[in-house]
Amino acid sequence: STDEKRTMAEVHELLAKLYHHCLLHTKQGRPALEYLENRGFTRESIERFQIGFAPDSWETASQFLQKRGMDLNTAEKVGLIGKRQSDGKPYDRFRNRIMFPIWDRTGAVVAFGGRVLDGKDEPKYLNSPESKIFQKGKTLYGLNLSRADMRQKQHAVIFEGYVDTIAAFRAGVTNGVATLGTSLTEDHAAILKRNVQSVTICYDSDRAGVEAAFRASEILTKQGCAVKISQMPDGMDPDDYITKFGNDSFLKDIIGASLTVMAFKIQYYRRGKNLRDEGERMIYIEEIIKEIARLPKAVERDHYLRQIASEFNLSLDALKQQQTQTFKQLQ
Ligand code: GTP
Ligand code: MN
Ligand code: MN
Ligand code: MN
Ligand code: MN
Repeated sequence: STDEKRTMAEVHELLAKLYHHCLLHTKQGRPALEYLENRGFTRESIERFQIGFAPDSWETASQFLQKRGMDLNTAEKVGLIGKRQSDGKPYDRFRNRIMFPIWDRTGAVVAFGGRVLDGKDEPKYLNSPESKIFQKGKTLYGLNLSRADMRQKQHAVIFEGYVDTIAAFRAGVTNGVATLGTSLTEDHAAILKRNVQSVTICYDSDRAGVEAAFRASEILTKQGCAVKISQMPDGMDPDDYITKFGNDSFLKDIIGASLTVMAFKIQYYRRGKNLRDEGERMIYIEEIIKEIARLPKAVERDHYLRQIASEFNLSLDALKQQQTQTFKQLQ
């Protein structure tokens, strides 16, 4: 019901304020604040993203909510409170974690992501489960904060995680959002398309990130977005890059140097191959032809086939034939 949804949002709002207070103004929050400062978080970004800290306690949140007359069953439904099996006593699910509020498009807090301070506890991120007010596949982290800027620029940048979005914001990317570990959905793409014409995908530079970027680029292209992909040194994510090389280099050498999807793929399949070796060259050409065959526009296919023909001194006819064969196999 609407009543229940309202209570769910209210519970999140209250806890977001509590966690934010704990981070900034309590002794328990000090290690968390130091952790964030060491990772380069500024006060401004802590404020803008309303970052908080859930103390290392089993009852801070549940007692706080109870005192304010909130229904703990509702808090349980949204995954903030658990109930002990033996006696039904409520306990806090988020303990000793940095808390990132997640907003819906209206700016209401509808979920949290909670990060451990050290690498020892598992999982690294504990995220709220889906609920009546939170659907992962329809939520873009940070959209409420970046929408105005996105629309004005007619451009969005998408990241994998909270920390990347926040670090990039600090570096000047004020039109960024994150998909939070899940892959980009058609709903995500439709939301972006409603706001912007073009999107830059800036995922982690590891295998999982690159594969997710390829899938996301297809979905976005289908929705009619112009898509680019950023390329970072192997193994780095945007936050790592900014910490190591600074804001200006991130804007200029990473975001500013983003490549069209095909140009990115050409670079990507070349990496680590010796194209003077005939075998490796043939593998590379096949990989690229497979990508060309997937391009929706004949003009684009023609353009890239000619490029390969001239680079490797091959006949355009042969390449076209192979492309047609590959296309049939893909059907
Ligand atoms: P840092 O390690 O703090 O720099 O975070 P990161 O954003 O680099 O983490 P990573 O690249 O591993 O993951 C990207 C996003 O995936 C995170 O922001 C989370 O939303 C999600 N994620 C990562 N690890 C977990 C996990 O253990 N559980 C869940 N549910 N989500 C995760
Ligand atoms: Mn504040
Ligand atoms: Mn990752
Ligand atoms: Mn990462
Ligand atoms: Mn990271």
